[in-house]
Amino acid sequence: MRMVDLIEKKRDGKELTKEEIHYIIKGYTSGDIPDYQMSAFTMAIYFQGMTDHERAELTMAMVHSGDTIDLSEVEGIKVDKHSTGGVGDTTTLVLGPLVAAVGVPVAKMSGRGLGHTGGTIDKLESVPGFHVEIENKQFIELVNKNKIAVIGQSGNLTPADKSLYALRDVTATVNSIPLIASSIMSKKIAAGADAIVLDVKTGAGAFMKDLDDSKELAKAMVDIGNLVGRRTMAIISDMSQPLGFAIGNALEVKEAIDTLSGKGPKDLEELCLSLGSYMVLLAEKAQSLEEARSMLIEVMNNGKARAAMKTFLEAQGGDGSVVDKPETLPQATYKIELEAKQDGYLSAMIADSIGTAAMLLGAGRATKESQIDLAVGLVLNKKIGDTVKKGESLVTIHSNRENVEDVKEKLHASISISDQKVEAPKLIYATVE
Ligand code: URA
Ligand code: CA
Repeated sequence: MRMVDLIEKKRDGKELTKEEIHYIIKGYTSGDIPDYQMSAFTMAIYFQGMTDHERAELTMAMVHSGDTIDLSEVEGIKVDKHSTGGVGDTTTLVLGPLVAAVGVPVAKMSGRGLGHTGGTIDKLESVPGFHVEIENKQFIELVNKNKIAVIGQSGNLTPADKSLYALRDVTATVNSIPLIASSIMSKKIAAGADAIVLDVKTGAGAFMKDLDDSKELAKAMVDIGNLVGRRTMAIISDMSQPLGFAIGNALEVKEAIDTLSGKGPKDLEELCLSLGSYMVLLAEKAQSLEEARSMLIEVMNNGKARAAMKTFLEAQGGDGSVVDKPETLPQATYKIELEAKQDGYLSAMIADSIGTAAMLLGAGRATKESQIDLAVGLVLNKKIGDTVKKGESLVTIHSNRENVEDVKEKLHASISISDQKVEAPKLIYATVE
């Protein structure tokens, strides 16, 4: 086989075989196929697309380009959740203990964040003592015992995806549905998922700003999952504004604890119940979505979801008393209100620039090397559709510096107030099964 012939075949819109796709990914991972040929190939995919079978083969070729996590010692069906990003998305922190409390095993490998706010590990590290540096053996034991554990990213997982993503980033080929779908699915499968629930975000703060594109991406991932034997379902949810109220590491941990107790923001609670119901269903712990949802509501109300959070934190060295006393989480020195400049209705709240405002405070990393401040962040006091009075607080800024004029300016630029009444946006636009 010669790479040049395969580039030509894709350029002309023909379907590649399984052997051809595996040859390309193997050659690229080993360095035998150079970046310039791979660039031409990804550009051909960008314009010609890929068939369902090509997408499934590309995904599995990337899965096998490196190590895979063996979760066979974990009892039960391992369901993983993936979100296509967003701002202040506290769902992972809530869903883990929530579904663990009804017996769904959560064996989660997580990363640190870049940009916007922290990743799941950063958020959890705001709990004093909590750490993810545990051995694989202990990780498996904890999942079997408590139904939940989180470990840091280790090993050489999907190296083909790593190289390819970096190449796509500089060759204007990130935005290709077959390439995004296979990239995301390969990472979940390599991390040991038997079944996958996807939360595809749509709207101004999301990777996919357009609803039709989001639906197409969701369908592409569901089709890949089902073709390679991993039951997959997707929800398309709103990211025209941040989810919940809190954006920032310790602030989101507190918000997650509130939500596990049934006292969280309604949008966050609803999305967690919807995603969680799919997880419970795919894990075969319930016969229907309705049954799954009532199981989750029950553990929110009877304290079992909170207890699962406490057990999980303590098992990994964390101070579980934060569940009852969230004020022991890191606190910022200053709480500064962002006041509305006029009366009206809150009409827009651009999630990604709100995320950037939180990053300016130190809640997120500008570069991989940046240190983050776990205490700082934003708490939204108004959301789209709310009435606003001049001088009322729109956002509480939790800061460790006294002067936050830059953050205020960024926030005012991301929030619009209109004279006309505005409807709150829908939270869930569609589901793909
Ligand atoms: N996120 C990924 O993991 N891969 C992509 O290709 C795009 C977003
Ligand atoms: Ca939030």
